[in-house]
Amino acid sequence: MIRPVYIYGSPVLRKVAQDIDSTYPEIKQLIEDMFETMHHSDGIGLAAPQIGLSIRLIVIDASPLEEDEPDLKDFRKVFINAKIVERFGEQILYKEGCLSIPNLREEVEREEKIRIQYFDENFTLHDEIFDGIPARIIQHEYDHLEGMLFTDRVSALRRKLLGGKLSAISKGKFDIEYKFKLSK
Ligand code: CO
Repeated sequence: MIRPVYIYGSPVLRKVAQDIDSTYPEIKQLIEDMFETMHHSDGIGLAAPQIGLSIRLIVIDASPLEEDEPDLKDFRKVFINAKIVERFGEQILYKEGCLSIPNLREEVEREEKIRIQYFDENFTLHDEIFDGIPARIIQHEYDHLEGMLFTDRVSALRRKLLGGKLSAISKGKFDIEYKFKLSK
């Protein structure tokens, strides 16, 4: 089932999300819904707060980037209760966007590599290092679990310039093809 994407200004996007365990109700269905919602909106990553659930669940499917990065062909993953334990390597600038902030893209600086511990959809624990595009997407989605958005990471001057646009977005002044929800 496709779920509405919560838009900038929704309080849930500013909350620190909570861990879950394998007894979380209908987790398989929820994960399926998140993939469906993400694919429907042409996203490559989605965090549960973006569909209104303040829990530590992320889905990523980087396969649409396969053309530029053949390694990403099968990069489809679920991260539950993820914890980034280390960020390292160079600081890299890369243009990001977010389904919760329609039609806005900004250069964001992040570390090149991360080490992350997480459970997959079967609640198997992993401890892995990612770099390149996967490290970028994971860090973006991970921010959602901490109540952060990529626009928080641009320079203070840039953020000031974005203020009007963000306020317009929070009021629904944008044009997108996917289901969404504005804050009440
Ligand atoms: Co996002």
